[in-house]
Formats: sequence, structure tokens, C-alpha cells
Amino acid sequence: MRQMVFALTAVAALAAGVAYTAAASAQAEGEAAPVFGIKLPPGYRDWRLISVAHEEGMLNDLRAILGNDVAVTAARNGTRPFPDGTIIARLAWDYAPLAESEKAFGHHQSYVAGTPKNGVQFMVKDSVKYASTGGWGFAQFNDGKAADEAVINTCFGCHAVVEDRDYVFNRYAP
Ligand code: HEC
Repeated sequence: MRQMVFALTAVAALAAGVAYTAAASAQAEGEAAPVFGIKLPPGYRDWRLISVAHEEGMLNDLRAILGNDVAVTAARNGTRPFPDGTIIARLAWDYAPLAESEKAFGHHQSYVAGTPKNGVQFMVKDSVKYASTGGWGFAQFNDGKAADEAVINTCFGCHAVVEDRDYVFNRYAP
């Protein structure tokens, strides 16, 4: 009996922990980025992959484009415009040579994600709230700190190049 009470208490504690985690993950925390007032979306690092990218030149990074469930479903099905509730994340890391690979191949061969760089960017779809910018709100965080207004004001102008693709450059990588 004692053992069973213990087991039940453990299960209850675990359930409470899960409930707490779920509640916490539904609420964005931290400072909001200027202009569109977007906070760092919780759990974004666990979102699914839409595509990858490599930027040359000054940016020189490796990128992953991730989406929440609404984003990934729409990206896969080619649904345009993306529905409200879509969030697309763009992560980036230093484009770094892998030393161990050089040993294996005898020359520079493999490049991998190094340290995070160039911030983490987000596009959030809300066709009413962000009506004047194609229904998209933009945000960038550098080491968890919101980028300033001058940076955020550059986003929409450049993404307008792909207005016919609902302002999203990347296609779903099958
Ligand atoms: C000079 C043009 C330019 C500016 C300015 C720019 N972007 Fe982009 N963005 C791109 C291009 C090109 C891609 C696709 C290549 C890539 O993924 O790096 C992209 C990709 C993205 C993606 C992945 C979805 C997609 O469109 O493929 C997000 C999210 C994003 N940008 C957010 C932002 C935010 C937020 C800002 C402002 C802080 C911003 N971008 C500023 C050109 C730009």
C-alpha cells in the first residue's frame, strides 16, 4: 500500500510538471521586439524543418528555416497565402569547417553549424494585426535580446521582392 501511495504521488507530481510545462510553453516570455511587438515564441527550437540555406559574403552562415505546425502544413501543401497563426523561424550559425573531417579526408571537406550568429528571425502571420505589411509581423533577437527598430524596419521592404509567394523566400525542402 505504501508503495502504491508513493507511486501515485510520483505520477501526480509528474502530471503537474507536465501541466506546468505545457502552460509555460504556450506563453511567450521576455521583451517584445519593436514595431510589431513580437516576443520570442516558446519552443521554437523544437519546430520542424522547412528548409536550409547558406549565406555567402559578410553573412557567411548556415541556416535552418523552421515552422510551427501551421507553417509546416501550409509549406508542405503549398498553401498560399499562409494562414493566420503561421510562424516561420530562421536560425543561423557560423559556417564552420569541421576539424575532425579534415583529418578523415586529408583536406577541407565538411562545413557544419558553428556558434549561433546573425540573430534568430521570425515572421508571424496575422492578416488583421499586420495588414499593412502583407499580414506579416517581423522580429529578430540577438542572444535573446530584441533587435532595434532600425533593423526591424528593413524586413518587409526586402521580403516584398517575393510578394507573389506571400513574402516567403524559402520553399519547402521535400
Ligand atoms: C536584403 C533582403 C532581406 C532583408 C532586409 C531581410 N530578409 Fe529575411 N530573408 C531574405 C532572403 C533572401 C531569405 C531566404 C534565404 C535565407 O533563408 O537566408 C530570407 C529568409 C527569411 C526567413 C525565412 C522565411 C523565408 O522568407 O524564406 C525569415 C523568417 C526572415 N527572412 C525574416 C526576416 C526578418 C525578421 C528580417 C528583418 C529583421 C529580415 N528577414 C530581413 C532576405 C531579407
